[in-house]
Amino acid sequence: MKIGIIAALDCEMVEFCKDFGAKPSKYYGIYEGKCAEHDVYISLVGVGKVNAAANTQRLIDLFDVDYVINSGVAGCTCNHLGVCDVVVSKELTYHDFYPIGVLDKYAPNASVFKADEKLISLACEACENIKDDGFKFDTGMIVTGDQFVEDSNVVARLRADYNAFCTEMEGAAVAHVCVLNKVPFVVIRAMSDNADEDADMSFEEMSAVAAKRASFVSTYIISKL
Ligand code: ADE
Repeated sequence: MKIGIIAALDCEMVEFCKDFGAKPSKYYGIYEGKCAEHDVYISLVGVGKVNAAANTQRLIDLFDVDYVINSGVAGCTCNHLGVCDVVVSKELTYHDFYPIGVLDKYAPNASVFKADEKLISLACEACENIKDDGFKFDTGMIVTGDQFVEDSNVVARLRADYNAFCTEMEGAAVAHVCVLNKVPFVVIRAMSDNADEDADMSFEEMSAVAAKRASFVSTYIISKL
């Protein structure tokens, strides 16, 4: 099978390159490797929705991938998880698209994008099996916007309006493009911060560790496909 991975930052893709022996392909920003019998294409996309959408479509058009995984870090917006815990996407939406209802009214007639059940269940199995130093995980709503959230008032709004478990800057755009192309996907995010006033500092300290944890979960999924 062919698996596409979307990673925004170097720290979110470096483990995949090691694990899969990935080398640069002839396409800008895309690395090719192998996991068991699967071909894996890792796209280092940069930050934000447009980068994520454009490069998800590139993976689909160039390689006809069977699955897409978006792996990386996020700001935690729920009370029951914290830094270095993991959120597996059940569904994703935008928190900065107004009015969001136009996505329901016009194409693609959906404003919430549901992740693939099989990938969700493999991700949960991964979290249960990875012994590591112990962490919590849950499956829930991930909200995406072109904004690094570092404000507890915004966190309260994301929780109240969307029941968001975490916030990041690419997931819903990846999901949106996958839905348009009927490609199954999942988003795996480990928490680098709490999206509050200390988010910047926490991100600096914890993003490498958190990104590695998200990669472990994603690698496990691929190894079981
Ligand atoms: N990615 C990691 N932390 C984030 C935050 N607080 N806001 C948006 N994206 C993030």
